[in-house]
Amino acid sequence: MGYAVEVKNVVKKFPSVVAVNDVTFTVDEGEIFGLLGPNGAGKTTLIRILTCLMKLTGGEAKIRGYDVVRKPGVVRKNIGVVSQAMTSDLDLTAWENLDIYGKYFDIPRKERHETMKYLLETVGLKDRARELVATYSGGMRRRLEIARGLIHTPYLLFLDEPTIGLDPQSRLVIWELLQKIRSETKLTIFITTHYMEEADKLCERVAIIDYGKIVALDSPVELKRSIGGFDIIELSLSELSPAIMERLKSMKFIKNVTEKESSVRIYVEDAAKAMPVLIEEFKRLNIAILNLAIHEQSLEDVFIHYTGKSIREEEAQKFNPFVGPGLPRQMPGVRI
Ligand SMILES: Nc1ncnc2c1ncn2[C@@H]1O[C@H](COP(=O)(O)OP(=O)(O)OP(=O)(O)O)[C@@H](O)[C@H]1O
Ligand SMILES: [Mg+2]
Repeated sequence: MGYAVEVKNVVKKFPSVVAVNDVTFTVDEGEIFGLLGPNGAGKTTLIRILTCLMKLTGGEAKIRGYDVVRKPGVVRKNIGVVSQAMTSDLDLTAWENLDIYGKYFDIPRKERHETMKYLLETVGLKDRARELVATYSGGMRRRLEIARGLIHTPYLLFLDEPTIGLDPQSRLVIWELLQKIRSETKLTIFITTHYMEEADKLCERVAIIDYGKIVALDSPVELKRSIGGFDIIELSLSELSPAIMERLKSMKFIKNVTEKESSVRIYVEDAAKAMPVLIEEFKRLNIAILNLAIHEQSLEDVFIHYTGKSIREEEAQKFNPFVGPGLPRQMPGVRI
């Protein structure tokens, strides 16, 4: 089986910055692969290279074995793109937006309309399909753009920050939608995000990118394991004696215990598994848990470990997909 995406030593230099700096990785067929990084990390630049919108400065990239520089026509047929900036036409209905895209790809009328109906149903816009996109919420517009990206039944779907600027509820709907599409088809999904939770929940493997370089790549679970950290359970107890500390230290799954005033910090590999055991033990010892806080390892910790900074700091200057120039409306290289 070949790779869905092969990126080998790819470099993209702009006059004032190296946006992509010697990046190498592969994406398997049918995988949900995530590129996680802060503002300016090079995510969109890499997507533009992979979707034939931008020439690379060095290295090579292939989609389904086809070189993005030498075979852009075949590559475009194989990919769907949901760009960071929303580009659906506000003055048209969802149906019209999809119809125009279907025509770009020369899909015969009957087949086109059948696919459109199926996609509108899938993304939950069937009942609003004849309304102007201008009346849609951000989440609805994003779902329409996902449907648009799938109109020609691509082999691979690129989504550049698909949930940026959306409220948590709409974000969840998009995640569920992508998971549903993936479970029903063999589609490979390549997503960029700067939301830790999105990468964690949605992606089978995640590449962390910072200043144009991949600093770590693995499944979310392995990434968290790789930094050797632990979940921390912080408990305030009705009683805390040296004997209790000794008892805790003797428990096998507890990696470390520290004491601070009347509370105790317990370091474990998996807080969800450890908690029931701890509750039982304190019950047995007749000690009440007065307060409880759990800090679970997150991709945020992984990001800090590999880059020395928090991704949240970078979030301040968020990109707003609803304003600004966005990307060209017309699909590259395809004429009406
Ligand atoms: N057309 C361009 N000309 C010059 N510099 C550019 C161009 N496009 C991007 N850059 C620069 O390349 C770097 C990477 O930008 P890119 O848009 O790829 O980042 P990103 O990871 O997508 O960030 P964001 O989360 O803000 O979307 C930034 O320093 C950016 O200013
Ligand atoms: Mg971007």
